[in-house]
Amino acid sequence: MPPRPLNAYVDAVGAVDWDRRLFDSLIPLPDGTSYNAYLVRSEGRTALIDTVDPAKRRVLLGNLAGVERLDYLIANHAEQDHSGLIPDVLARYPEAVLVCTPKAKGMLVDHLGITEGRIKTVADGETLALGGVTFEFLHMPWVHWPETMVTYLRPAKILFSCDFFGAHAAQSDVFVHDESLIDLAAKRYYGEIMMPFRTSIQKHLARLSGLDIAMIAPSHGPVYADPVPIMAAYRDWASETPKNEVVIPYISMHGSTAILVERLVSCLAGRAVRVQPFNLDDTDIGKLAVALVDAATLVVGTPAVHIGPHPRVASVVFLANALRPKLKFVSIIGSYGWGHKIVDQIAGLIPNLKVEVLPPIISRGLPKPADLAAVDALAETIAARHAALGLK
Ligand code: FEO
Repeated sequence: MPPRPLNAYVDAVGAVDWDRRLFDSLIPLPDGTSYNAYLVRSEGRTALIDTVDPAKRRVLLGNLAGVERLDYLIANHAEQDHSGLIPDVLARYPEAVLVCTPKAKGMLVDHLGITEGRIKTVADGETLALGGVTFEFLHMPWVHWPETMVTYLRPAKILFSCDFFGAHAAQSDVFVHDESLIDLAAKRYYGEIMMPFRTSIQKHLARLSGLDIAMIAPSHGPVYADPVPIMAAYRDWASETPKNEVVIPYISMHGSTAILVERLVSCLAGRAVRVQPFNLDDTDIGKLAVALVDAATLVVGTPAVHIGPHPRVASVVFLANALRPKLKFVSIIGSYGWGHKIVDQIAGLIPNLKVEVLPPIISRGLPKPADLAAVDALAETIAARHAALGLK
C-alpha cells in the first residue's frame, strides 16, 4: 500500500497484510491485519512512528524511498510486529535517534540488538519538538506489554495509540469506513489482547479522557477520524459489569454432553438469558474471546477423557483463565464412562477467575431424567443470579 495521508503533514506508511491468517501461532486473523507506521514532516524535519513486521520490509522501506533524512524514530512498543524493522531503518538513516520509554530501551537492545547510543529515552509526559509540531509521550504500560507508550501529536491532536484501540483488519482505506468494525475486529482484538489487562486499560482510559483527541491512529487496523465510538466501546468492554450472557464451550464425543448442552441452551433461552454454545470441534477462538468480553457466566461442557476433561476443552479453559474476563459465575456439565476427575481438574485451571462456582452436573453415560432436571435447575439459578445483579 502506498503512503496515504492522515492530514497535511502525517502519512500512513505501514503495510497491509491481506494474507496473514494466524498471529503468535495462536490467534486467528480472518480479515488479515496491518502494521501501521506513520511519517510526520514539519519544517524540513521528519519523524517515523513505529515500523512494521519484518515480513513487510519491502513495503515500509519502499514507502520511505523519498525520505532523505530522518530525525527521530519513535518506538511506542517493542513487540516485533512494530519494532522488527528498527535495525533496518536505523541503518538507512544513521542520523536518526530512536525514542522510547526506559523500559523499552532494554527490550529493544535485548530483542533486536540495537546499539544503546542510538536511543533517547523519554519520561512520562515528556515532549519533543519537531519543526512546528510537538510530540507528547504518555507511558501506558500493560496494553499489553510493560514498556508501552502512546504518542500524542500537537497541534493535530492525533493519538498514535500503538496496540491500544487496534484491530486486526486489512483494508485499503486508511480511515474506518464502517463502524461495525468496532463490534467485530476491534472487539475481537480487545478480547484476545487487551482483556487480561482490563484494570490497566481502565486507568489509561480515564487518563485519556482528559486529553483533547481529534483522531486515533493505532498500530493495527484503520484510523479513527472520530475517536468517540471506539473510546466508548472500550469503556464498556473494560467495565466491571458483564451482560446477561452465558458462554458454553463444549465437546461431545458420543452425544451425552451434547444432550446436556442442548437442554441448557434451550432452558436459558426460555428464561431470556442470551446464550452462545461453541462446539470446540470447530470453533474460532477469536469468536469465543469476543463472547467472553461480555459474558457473566461460563459453563464448560466436556466428556471425560482419561478421567479428566477433553484436552480441547482444557485448552480453552486454560485460555479463558489467561484472558481474565469479567465472569461472575462458572459451572461444568458433562459425562463420563466409568469414573472421572473433571471438576477438580477444571477447577485447578481457573485460579484467575474470581467467580462463584455453581453446582456441576456430570452424568454417567446418557443423561437421565434427574440429570436433565439438574440442568433445568442450573438454568434457573443462572437466570436468578443474573437478575439479582440487574444484568442487561
Ligand atoms: Fe501489535 Fe503488541 O504488538
